[in-house]
Amino acid sequence: MFQLTRSVTWQALTQLRQQTANERIRDYFTADPQRFEKMSLRVGGLFLDYSKHQVSESVLAKLLELADHSALVQRRAQMFSGDIINVTENRPVLHTALRNLAEGPLMVDGQDVMPEIQRTREQIQRFSEAVRSGEWKGHSGKRIRDVVNIGIGGSDLGPNMACRALLKYRHPELSFHFVSNVDGAHIQKVLSRLDPATTLFIVSTKTFSTQETLLNAKTARRWFLETAGEDADVGAHFIAASTNKKAAMEFGIREENIFEFWAWVGGRYSMWSSIGLPIALSIGFEGFMELLEGAYEMDRHFLTAPSAENMPVLMALIGIWYINFVGAETQAIVPYDQALHQLPAFLQQLDMESNGKSVDIFGHPVDYKTGPIVWGQTGSNGQHAFFQLLHQGTRYVPIDFIASLKPEPGMEEHHFALLTNMLAQANAFMEGSHGGEERGDSQLDPYSCPGNRPSSVLLLDELTPKNLGALIALYEHKVFVQGVIWNINSFDQWGVQLGKRIAGEISERIDAQSQDFDASTQGLLALVRGHFQRGAADAETAAETASAPAGTPRRKGKPRQ
Ligand code: F6P
Repeated sequence: MFQLTRSVTWQALTQLRQQTANERIRDYFTADPQRFEKMSLRVGGLFLDYSKHQVSESVLAKLLELADHSALVQRRAQMFSGDIINVTENRPVLHTALRNLAEGPLMVDGQDVMPEIQRTREQIQRFSEAVRSGEWKGHSGKRIRDVVNIGIGGSDLGPNMACRALLKYRHPELSFHFVSNVDGAHIQKVLSRLDPATTLFIVSTKTFSTQETLLNAKTARRWFLETAGEDADVGAHFIAASTNKKAAMEFGIREENIFEFWAWVGGRYSMWSSIGLPIALSIGFEGFMELLEGAYEMDRHFLTAPSAENMPVLMALIGIWYINFVGAETQAIVPYDQALHQLPAFLQQLDMESNGKSVDIFGHPVDYKTGPIVWGQTGSNGQHAFFQLLHQGTRYVPIDFIASLKPEPGMEEHHFALLTNMLAQANAFMEGSHGGEERGDSQLDPYSCPGNRPSSVLLLDELTPKNLGALIALYEHKVFVQGVIWNINSFDQWGVQLGKRIAGEISERIDAQSQDFDASTQGLLALVRGHFQRGAADAETAAETASAPAGTPRRKGKPRQ
């Protein structure tokens, strides 16, 4: 069996880390005045500067060898052609098909999927144009003014991030709201400001079985009927984006208002599908297609560029260097662009739900680190929150700075300050400061920052739908490349299912002393139980107890496996 950490290349990278651990990034520039030109890359409207990394030319060459010795070429071809690479769910992985703008068939299980993808795009086009033009009327004949997306995880984060990133393209008479948390405060806050007659709810859920989304959708429907009248037409105000048409119709959504997508679209990769409906409603179908086009062009780049000039591959390899050889535990995402303030949260799910794995595709435990902890916040805010730790703390945190070059009209002074702050920070992380230098004392002192802290700078010419599509596809493929090199399945999420299962078991036992859980959980359940007068469940239990023969033990949960 192939053991990654025993490979010659991996061993060589381990040695290279020992040899280069004390090298300073800034010395690489002194040694090679062409470093910036050599370690920067443009793909369409995106420009990546990866020269401020603690990666020498020999390290980069060895990292590229790691990619070339991996299954990258084969697995990438398999993904794009619809082979089953999500082996534990026995599914293809075809979010790339959703933005495939090329002619010709794409066969999945012997069937060309492009016609149904095209049909769904046309359905999105018709619907978004009807709502945006005012042609689509609510139950009382008024046009829609508020759109509420009810979904969580990939059924929220992608459309939410994109709608906020592209706010300047939003239809002036439509407002968008995203409800995801099962905490009632989330939906209450949104509903409190809405008129049911002019509100459209999109129930976005791949499975139509996620507890939070179903509860929020039921609450929204109850609110709608209570405020618009019991005979108000739910069908005119509720639509769905789901693979589960049957469940959507049982909820009360008309068949023609269900926007389907397919099992081979992962939730965190689904914003290109019907889950992206809020984006099309907000920026228009043409803008939505530009988003797809940007992703498609990044797909083509990823498929065709040699590794040494391949933006997703290079970002993936630099990440692997820090995670597996330098020992970084986290990856910071710092967009110097307030419109991208939701991007870190989106990338958190994309990366951590994909590569937060500890077994390989054969189910064997891995003996190396995999997905990092991804976190972040916009700059310049981060400078006043966590940059102190990044500058002077004991942790080594690689940073992706992301910004768009073009200022909004009238905001040139702000934008100049934003971009110069970002460049200053990237430089300061690399250079550091040695307060003692003035005194000829190079030792660190309370005023010093060690520097030599790496970052990438990713610049978008302008934050347009097309460039946003390319940016998201870039990170999707970066995650994919890392997963391939780590030989893990980036497309299942069994860890999440565990939490869902236990949540179900606990909620079933809230009304009964249960020995199925540890003492802590039981003690906490007792505290929680005190705050809930169970209606139906209590009545049901009481009825069971009453009807059961004397001495029947109370209902106990299934013994935990
Ligand atoms: O977090 C687990 C997960 O399954 C995600 O992968 C998914 O995006 C989210 O829950 C929501 O799932 P659904 O779209 O089926 O409601």
